[in-house]
Amino acid sequence: MLGDITSQDVDAIVNAANSSLLGGGGVDGAIHRAAGPELVQHCRLLGGCKTGQAKITPGFRLTARWIIHTVGPVWHGGAQGEPELLASCYRESLARADEVGATAVAFPAISTGIFGYPIELAAEVAVATVSSTPTSVQEVRFVCFNDATSQAYEALIAD
Ligand code: AR6
Repeated sequence: MLGDITSQDVDAIVNAANSSLLGGGGVDGAIHRAAGPELVQHCRLLGGCKTGQAKITPGFRLTARWIIHTVGPVWHGGAQGEPELLASCYRESLARADEVGATAVAFPAISTGIFGYPIELAAEVAVATVSSTPTSVQEVRFVCFNDATSQAYEALIAD
């Protein structure tokens, strides 16, 4: 669906963060602005996050109760483990959701903005990984911020 992830009425939203977990541009900046300054205060205690991993925080001022922060790979052409690391982001995010009992989760198109991962390839990894990961999550929402992103997901889901 097209939309802004910060306003999704789900249990958990996923943030495409960087390894510092202290905020940034893109969806990360939007989530920090919407959640309020308590979020960065809380994130300072987490000690960062490695690429492909995920950590969870409260949603603070968001409708969503939780924010799952994951760090996608920077695109370097695809031969430096990018698909495996991106798949790990989706699996680890679902694992964090399961740990707190979140059953509706919204994902942005991780790595496809500032980190440069081609959207068609990233959407394939997202859909394939979410479809094949055992989880108690019942609703996964892929929130698309622009038409190119939603077209990439629609092409896959139509197949
Ligand atoms: N709701 C949903 N999707 C959004 C929103 C939003 N409000 N804003 C942007 N997007 P990006 P990355 C889409 O760049 O590539 C940050 O500085 C955007 O159109 O946010 O993983 C972090 O701190 C794109 O499709 O994340 C890291 O340093 C997708 O979200 C770095 O950027 C991801 O774009 C992470 O880069």
